[in-house]
Amino acid sequence: MPGALRVVALDGPAGSGKSTVARAVADRLGFDYLDTGAMYRAVAFEAIRRGVDPHDAARIGEIARQMDLEVSDRVVVNGADATIEIRGPEVTRAVSAVASHPEVRSEMVLRQREWADGRTGVVMEGRDIATVVFPSAEVKVFLTASETARAERRSKEMLDRDYNEVAADMVRRDRADSTRAASPLAAAPDAVVIDTTDLTSDKVVGKVLEIAEAAWGALGEA
Ligand code: DC
Repeated sequence: MPGALRVVALDGPAGSGKSTVARAVADRLGFDYLDTGAMYRAVAFEAIRRGVDPHDAARIGEIARQMDLEVSDRVVVNGADATIEIRGPEVTRAVSAVASHPEVRSEMVLRQREWADGRTGVVMEGRDIATVVFPSAEVKVFLTASETARAERRSKEMLDRDYNEVAADMVRRDRADSTRAASPLAAAPDAVVIDTTDLTSDKVVGKVLEIAEAAWGALGEA
């Protein structure tokens, strides 16, 4: 009998530090890591490649259901490596519309649960992990940070783009992600909210590990 699945659900807006923290926590606990944002980005990438309007729910839903998608260190969409392109401005601009369709969300949630199936410990980062994908996760963390701190982090990742442009894109995307009808970005009522504005990522990782330890005992040191 396989043991029960242990889930660290890590949600929050763009630039809150999720990816850095999620990878480090997975590493320390010896858990597998999944970036669910990369999955929505992959759908947006495929839509753009096929010239499909990101607002066309039916056609975007069909792309999501039919696509062959592999998300690990690399992101492979229908056989094509899209690791770099999914981070580009074109995909970033289209992704909120793509992720707003219930048809897309239900397919992604299904795939995320399938990915976790058969694993023993996972760290999953996204917007709806604690609220929708794994509402029974024992460790739920919601990262926040001031708008300025988040925009600064994002623009440091995108050296080729103007700060004001990055900040404006981010604010627009947050608003769309938080106000959409289908599973909007929100902290689960039982999530621990960590404001990362003035914290180093090491500090945040330490806090998440403390929460994990309270839930499961010392894991990574065995
Ligand atoms: O984390 P990210 O910036 O790569 O996410 C890209 C987009 O995907 C983000 O604008 C919202 C959406 N998303 C979502 O709706 N649900 C998730 N679980 C993860 C991402």
